[in-house]
Amino acid sequence: MRLTAFPGGPLTGDAAIPGDKSCSHRALILGAMAKGETRISGLLESEDVLTTARAVDAFGARVEKAGDEWVVQGTAWSSPEAAVDCGNSGTAVRLLMGAVAGMPRVRATFTGDASLASRPMRRVTAPLERMGAIIEGEGRLPITVEGAQLGGIEHRNLPASAQVKSAILLAGVGTSAPVTVIEPVPSRDHTEIMLAAFGCQVGLDDTPDGWLVSFGEKRALRGCDLAIGADPSSAAFPLVAAAIVPGSEVVVRGMLVNPLRTGLYETLETMGADIELSSERIQSGEIVADMTVRHAGLRPCHVDAAQIPAMIDEIPALAVACAFADGESVIQGLGELRARESDRLGAIVAGLTACGVSALADGDTLRIFGRGWVRGGARIATLGDHRIAIAFLTLGLAGDQPVEVDEAEMIGTSFPGFVEVLRSLGADIG
Ligand code: S3P
Repeated sequence: MRLTAFPGGPLTGDAAIPGDKSCSHRALILGAMAKGETRISGLLESEDVLTTARAVDAFGARVEKAGDEWVVQGTAWSSPEAAVDCGNSGTAVRLLMGAVAGMPRVRATFTGDASLASRPMRRVTAPLERMGAIIEGEGRLPITVEGAQLGGIEHRNLPASAQVKSAILLAGVGTSAPVTVIEPVPSRDHTEIMLAAFGCQVGLDDTPDGWLVSFGEKRALRGCDLAIGADPSSAAFPLVAAAIVPGSEVVVRGMLVNPLRTGLYETLETMGADIELSSERIQSGEIVADMTVRHAGLRPCHVDAAQIPAMIDEIPALAVACAFADGESVIQGLGELRARESDRLGAIVAGLTACGVSALADGDTLRIFGRGWVRGGARIATLGDHRIAIAFLTLGLAGDQPVEVDEAEMIGTSFPGFVEVLRSLGADIG
């Protein structure tokens, strides 16, 4: 399916952004592992997250939608009859492999679509194997995991990956042995925050060696009520659109503003974006707030590798903002983007170039030479990557000529209502 974004007038109003994807996966998995009932409001109903819902159901947990809430009845997991198909979702497969690893005698084979089957899994299976799980597979899907009574681990998480850290922590729920993950730069900490909501003790220490995340004695999970904030990775697109389309003012209410997720917004501020945060509050252990972005002329940015974990999924959105800045933007430390849903770094460079913006990937550094305006007028290859499709539709709203993307159905992976939300703000996409 193809979609085209047409240049148009200002974008204004409240953007109804669905719940955070990372928190949604974790809520379903922890709910399924916990004793008793977990009620979740604000769950993202995207392809990725529904994959996790089906998977935990296959492991024996009951997952139902009741009105606006999702209700999970936790259980002792059993081996599913068929392979667990994780579709396009790296988070689903890596976190589920971790959970199964800590459950003695539970055995499951994990598969995925062509994109997921090409992504590296050894970063997760190697530490799980060291803890004592039985792993069959060659570093890519399909992989079979058989859970065991695990020993402890001290794992150096390089590069800092929240999926790897979370897999180890979920495996660690089933053992009383010491489990520690050390990160050079902290990656998103939603698993740690949610484990606490389920009654587990997780410690965090800033040591000369790095950030040390470790399990305490209490590891039994009790079902709880969770409210998930709006996803800052999806909000990135209408908010960047507001920054680059003259006259715009867009608000996202109840957005997750966990500081390990707000790197894009901090960078946009250094570029001169007009961003206002209000009504900060705590919701299920996470900070949420209302964010308003108004149009402003943008300066280029310089981002170094240590800043990347807090905006790893927002680089396509940032690249669009940089295309409209006047001057050379430099974003370092993007090697990981080559192992995403697509070679995301290559896809960004190819898409920008097709839209008349000079851009190049120099090793793991992205350089974008903005001129303050963008021609557009291109057909973009999505390469099966939802964030590439959404990013170039966003660019098309502010360029001189329309931008078309192929495989627009991939948008449903993370942000099913994207087109409707943007139309409600006044965008012309069809
Ligand atoms: C995620 C962690 C990040 C991110 C992904 C979601 C998570 O991946 O890119 O979209 O929910 O833990 P890495 O852990 O591989 O950096």
